[in-house]
Amino acid sequence: QEPAAPGAGSVKQQISNLVALSLRATVPEVDVEPIVEVCTGKFGDYQCNNAMGLWSKGKGSGTSFKNPNAIGQAIAKNLPACDVIESASVAGPGFVNIVLSKSWVAKRIQDMLVNGIKTWAPILPVKRVVLDFSSPNIAKEMHVGHLRSTIIGDTLARMFEFSNVEVLRRNHVGDWGTQFGMLIEFLFEKFPNWEELGSQAIGDLQVFYKASKQRFDEDAEFKDRAQQAVVRLQGGEEKYRAAWKKICEISRNEFDQVYKLLDVQLEEKGESFYNPYIPQVLEKLSSQGLIEESEGARVIFIQGHQIPLIVVKRDGGFNYASTDLAALWYRLNVEKAEWIIYVTDVGQQQHFDMFFKAARMAGWLPDPKEKKFPKTSHVGFGLVLGADGKRFRTRSTEVVRLGDLLDEAKSRSKSELLQRLTENGKIVDWTDEELEQTSKAVGYGAVKYADLKNNRLTNYTFSFDQMLSDKGNTAVYLQYAHARICSIIRKSNMDVEELKVSGNISLAHPDERVLGLYLIRYAEIVEEACTNLLPSVLCEYLYNLSEMFTRFYTNCQVVGSPEEPSRLLLCEATAVVMRQCFQLLGITPVYKL
Ligand code: ARG
Repeated sequence: QEPAAPGAGSVKQQISNLVALSLRATVPEVDVEPIVEVCTGKFGDYQCNNAMGLWSKGKGSGTSFKNPNAIGQAIAKNLPACDVIESASVAGPGFVNIVLSKSWVAKRIQDMLVNGIKTWAPILPVKRVVLDFSSPNIAKEMHVGHLRSTIIGDTLARMFEFSNVEVLRRNHVGDWGTQFGMLIEFLFEKFPNWEELGSQAIGDLQVFYKASKQRFDEDAEFKDRAQQAVVRLQGGEEKYRAAWKKICEISRNEFDQVYKLLDVQLEEKGESFYNPYIPQVLEKLSSQGLIEESEGARVIFIQGHQIPLIVVKRDGGFNYASTDLAALWYRLNVEKAEWIIYVTDVGQQQHFDMFFKAARMAGWLPDPKEKKFPKTSHVGFGLVLGADGKRFRTRSTEVVRLGDLLDEAKSRSKSELLQRLTENGKIVDWTDEELEQTSKAVGYGAVKYADLKNNRLTNYTFSFDQMLSDKGNTAVYLQYAHARICSIIRKSNMDVEELKVSGNISLAHPDERVLGLYLIRYAEIVEEACTNLLPSVLCEYLYNLSEMFTRFYTNCQVVGSPEEPSRLLLCEATAVVMRQCFQLLGITPVYKL
């Protein structure tokens, strides 16, 4: 990693850099990482917690310090003189409390306003990430679980991309497997002219899947043909490959519609893509002695697991795990990714656990304790529940159509918006186009935010009423908060664009200072959300930011006050940061509501 330019990276990173210099001066003989946290108390804004650890480490070898507090004092004293830190003091057993300089905070905000929010990108220790998300199965239902994977994965991708990390967005669709035999045979039977069919002609693929499954279960002769079809497909027979392609294409069209609605970019590299690599990858593992024979199957035994990882089934076919091993090999060796991230429901945790361990046994990945790259992570998430506390279903149908969900969210938010605008006589200020765009942004945003705001591992209850409420921690509330700030800025007679260059932010009032400090934490929040793969961290920040803005706005008059130029810039900075949060969450911000 190259040394970062001065002033680059999150505030926490910059404080850490300063602390690192101080540590080098304080304890030159010890190699120690700076420990810096945000401070919640009133004595500082950030805190260095190295003294206690150094003390207990140095005790035996006899340092020249009398106690941990003395180490803390020395760390505080040795902090390089700079415009970042106003003062540092030591509390208790050696916590070094650091107070940031108000003028530095103000300048950092102003620089961002002039040069753009990208200057607040954190610096992450990784250059290329493979993000495997969404990944529905062809001809099977794309269920709400896939919606979660799509939304969570897209946000992670956006956060990494914002942080200048290259992201390979991979859709690992289930486009290979024994179900294709039955689908292909059913296609031949139902649609003799299948080659000429457009992608709409078959109608609903899920219905098609069900019907073919029924045929498969009921008719032994059909079943036989279906099983032969798998062999012929995998043997590469032209007609079977063409039929397979056709079915994939129909599925792809359906998926793409959802991705378009959600504004999600993905590159499809389905299971079939990795199929040709499986034999050579298994061959390598085999020559390392990792693969054994067990009850007719070929398996990898993994420490801590009762059952082995099956990599070749008893019938000689490959499976989910063999594909994942080949895909991981490809991602590491061909795509040269340093971090490979998989977003699926927690139900698949064991699968990932086992195959990550297998990769470590093969020496593909270092021991996670070493905290080195390349590494793999499974981003698991909980279930979506209905009001009845059971797995979410809509009405009587078994599957939840994602497009329908989004549509409903939009139309509900539209009727609420219409009602409110009619009540307060403002409907005349809105064009149809504006109404449509706004309800779409609010409705879709509500669905995404309701998913992202929870810790992803917990189950959450899908409720339109809750997610579309304008109170509490919802996207609707946040959209209102953002639109209000925009309206404050519009109300002022001052030109905010001009102020950015000519004006000056001062953080004299305590609520201004608190807001300013929170704004500049933006980069470290994105950093934390990326490091821990937790979009909820960003949601929490966004919500807190809007609360802090409210406090500021309640206590500090903006328009018409002597401080108007400075406070208007704080409004603008808050709006810019909120918009960037929305952007990372895949939500379109609205400017009037
Ligand atoms: N198709 C799988 C499913 O629907 C998800 C695939 C996740 N990615 C992977 N490399 N295993 O559950």
